[in-house]
Amino acid sequence: MTSPITAQDAHPGPNLTGERVLIYHLRDVIKTREAEGAAFRLRVPSLQIALGEKIALIGESGCGKSTLLDMLSMTLRPTEIGSFRFRPERGADPVDISELWRKKQLNRLGDLRRLRIGYVMQTGGLLPYLTVRENINLSRRLLDMVDDGLVDELAGDLGIRHHLDKLPHMLSVGERQRVAIGRALAHRPAIVIADEPTASLDPIAAERIMSLFIELVDELHITVILASHAWRHINRLGLRHLEHHTHREADGSMTETVVSG
Ligand SMILES: Nc1ncnc2c1ncn2[C@@H]1O[C@H](COP(=O)(O)OP(=O)(O)OP(=O)(O)O)[C@@H](O)[C@H]1O
Ligand SMILES: [Mg+2]
Repeated sequence: MTSPITAQDAHPGPNLTGERVLIYHLRDVIKTREAEGAAFRLRVPSLQIALGEKIALIGESGCGKSTLLDMLSMTLRPTEIGSFRFRPERGADPVDISELWRKKQLNRLGDLRRLRIGYVMQTGGLLPYLTVRENINLSRRLLDMVDDGLVDELAGDLGIRHHLDKLPHMLSVGERQRVAIGRALAHRPAIVIADEPTASLDPIAAERIMSLFIELVDELHITVILASHAWRHINRLGLRHLEHHTHREADGSMTETVVSG
């Protein structure tokens, strides 16, 4: 059950030791949702994501991007799980996420999420009563991490150092998105999950912020998975695309998306 999960040849990818370590290894994971007579099913026959990879999930509205990201961030319980393993550290045993859900170990899932995952939401999700500095530092504070200078460094890299003592409402939407990116990275998570992180920005700002974001995750060796509509720009950043196919019944009663990669 705790045998190391590695795959040497499924996808060529970044690799520091010659060994390709999988941060996510999913098999036969399904989420079904039903709303007012219309059913949706997301099926993941097989998904392998290596530590250090940069992944893009690009698809039309309603195809299930957020559903997949919410399952990967362990906020949404899959309906069925063949196997779901998460291995945020090279050299550590993979964690059996399926078992944690089955045993309803929600605290353990929450701990994993806080420690290992950073999340960037479409509209930032900053706390309005905390300053920019406090917002960026929030993920660290929750983990009792001492200041190692990273918050200031990230603020500098993101071009928001002069806003650190302001409240979020005093910033532009683009600046707030930069703060949200800083917050997702500040506790040095193993992976950052970004659900349309630049969707509320104009194309030029979106491109600039997306490039900055990818530069930073590269620098900090953080794995990234992002969902986006921004085809052309994403291609230029060299992310690996997750394959997915969506099938809709003609009468609209059922939509199924199959993701694999
Ligand atoms: N809480 C929910 N309850 C029932 N159905 C839901 C729920 N959330 C989403 N769905 C349905 O699941 C399907 C996939 O939704 P999802 O939010 O994953 O799509 P998406 O690809 O992220 O879309 P968008 O690009 O608009 O964000 C949709 O048909 C949606 O209506
Ligand atoms: Mg979505």
